[in-house]
Amino acid sequence: MTDTAAPPAQPLALIVLAAGKGTRMKSDTHKVLHPIAGRPMLMHLLASADALEPARKVVVVGSGREQLAAALNGSAELAVQDPQLGTGHAVQQAETALTGFSGDVLILYGDVPFVRTETMRAMLERLHGADNPAVVVLAFEPEDALQYGRVIAADGVVSKMVEHKDASAAERACRLCNSGLMAVRGEELFALLARVGNANAQGEYYLTDIVNIANTDGRVCAVVVTDDPDEVAGINSRAELAEAEGRWQAKRRLQAMANGASLVAPETVWFAWDTRLGRDVTVEQNVVFGPGVTVADNVVIHAFCHIEGARLESGASVGPFARLRPGAVLEKKARVGNFVEVKNAVLHAGAKANHLTYLGDADVGAGANIGAGTITCNYDGYFKYRTVIGERAFIGSNSALIAPVKIGADAIVAAGSAVSRDVADGELRLVRGEQLVKPGWADRFHDAMKRKKAERKG
Ligand code: UD1
Ligand code: MG
Repeated sequence: MTDTAAPPAQPLALIVLAAGKGTRMKSDTHKVLHPIAGRPMLMHLLASADALEPARKVVVVGSGREQLAAALNGSAELAVQDPQLGTGHAVQQAETALTGFSGDVLILYGDVPFVRTETMRAMLERLHGADNPAVVVLAFEPEDALQYGRVIAADGVVSKMVEHKDASAAERACRLCNSGLMAVRGEELFALLARVGNANAQGEYYLTDIVNIANTDGRVCAVVVTDDPDEVAGINSRAELAEAEGRWQAKRRLQAMANGASLVAPETVWFAWDTRLGRDVTVEQNVVFGPGVTVADNVVIHAFCHIEGARLESGASVGPFARLRPGAVLEKKARVGNFVEVKNAVLHAGAKANHLTYLGDADVGAGANIGAGTITCNYDGYFKYRTVIGERAFIGSNSALIAPVKIGADAIVAAGSAVSRDVADGELRLVRGEQLVKPGWADRFHDAMKRKKAERKG
C-alpha cells in the first residue's frame, strides 16, 4: 500500500533500528522477521520506504544478524550494535556504512512496520522547510501516553524531548508522544550524536537528545504529528503482532471491496501482503490467501478454501473446501471443487476436478474432466514425476494416474483404473481386475450361514 508520487529531491538513506532484544516475543526468530500477512514486518517497512527510492539502507542489528542477512539477501547493509546502549548509540553504528553519503537520513524502527510512505515524505519535506529544522520528529497522540517519550512542542516546534523515566509530572502530563522516528540531514546527524551522553535515568544514549542538543545550538527542531496512531504502533509481543495483523487485514478487506470484490463475510477472509484480486470476484466465508495469489475478474471462491501461490484466471471457480498450493493455475473457467488439492498443476481452460482429488505436478488439458477420487501419484519417495492429461480427456472416478504418465486427448480412463503406461489419443484404458459374476451366490451364502448360527445356539 505505497503511493506513487515522485521521490524526494535529496538523496535519501534509511537507518532501520532492529538491535533491541525483542525478549517479549519469546522467540528464536528475530522480532522484525515475524510475519504479518505472510511477510516479515521489516519487509513491510522497507517496501513503504522503497517508494521514496532510498540510495542507501542500513539495518542496525544486535543478535540474530545471520537471520537478518538471509532475509535481506543483500537488499540492505547491516551494521552491528553490540552491546545495545540505546537508540542514539544504535544510530551511531550506521555511521561507517554511510561514509561519504550526503543527503537526508530517515531513522525508522524495524518493529514499527506500518508507517506510511506519505508520512515519511511529510517528515522529509518538513526537514527542508523555510526554518531549516535540524531534526524532524514524528509524534502521535495516543489514548494513553504510557511510557512513551514526550515531545514538548508548540506550533510544530519542539522545545524538549524527554523520556518518561526522566520526565517531571508536568512533562508526563503532555500527551504528544515520540514515535521514535526521525529525519535528519546526514551531514548533521553524526556530529549531533557524538555529543549525546548517557547521564539519564536509564544510562542510555538517547537518540532524542540530538533534538535537545540542536536546540542549545539555537536550531529549530520540528514535529510532524500523525493523526493515525496505528501507523506508529510498535510490535513487542505476540499479542501486539496479532493486533497488527488484525488491523492490516481489516484495511485490506475494505480495499478489496472498494476495488470491486464481494466478500460475503469480510472478517473471515485473510489476505496475504501480495494478494491480487480482479473485479467482480466473490470470496465466500472463511477463505485464507497465502502469499503469491493472483485472482482475475469474475472468479468465485467458495467457502473454506486455502489458496497459496496460485493463479486463477477469469471465470474460474474454486471450492468449497479446496486447497490450492504453489504452482496451481486455473485457466479460464476451470473448476476445482470440494476436497480437491492442487499443487504445481495447470488446469487449462474449462477443465474440471470437482470432487475429492489430488492433482500434483500435472497438466490437465482444456475441457478435461477429472472424476471424483482421482489421484496423480507424483512421488515415489525419491523424485517427483509429471502427469500430462490431454484436452477433453475423461478420467473416471477413483483412478490412480501413476506418474510419469500421459493421457491422450479425448481418451477415457475407466473408473477405478491404476494407469501406469501412457494412454493414446482417443483410447479407452480400463485397468481393473476381471469381474466375477455368480448369480444367487450371496443368497445361498446367507442361507448356509444363518443355518449354522441357529444350530450353534440350539
Ligand atoms: C524509544 C524512544 C521514545 C519513544 C519510543 C517509541 C529514545 C531514547 N526513546 O523508547 O522516546 O517514545 O521509542 O516506541 O529514543 N534499539 C536498538 N538499539 C538499542 C535500543 C533500541 O536498536 O540500543 C531499537 C529497538 O530494536 C527498537 C527501537 O530501537 O526498534 C526502540 O527501542 P525501544 O527500547 O523499544 O524504545 P524505548 O527506549 O522504549
Ligand atoms: Mg529502551
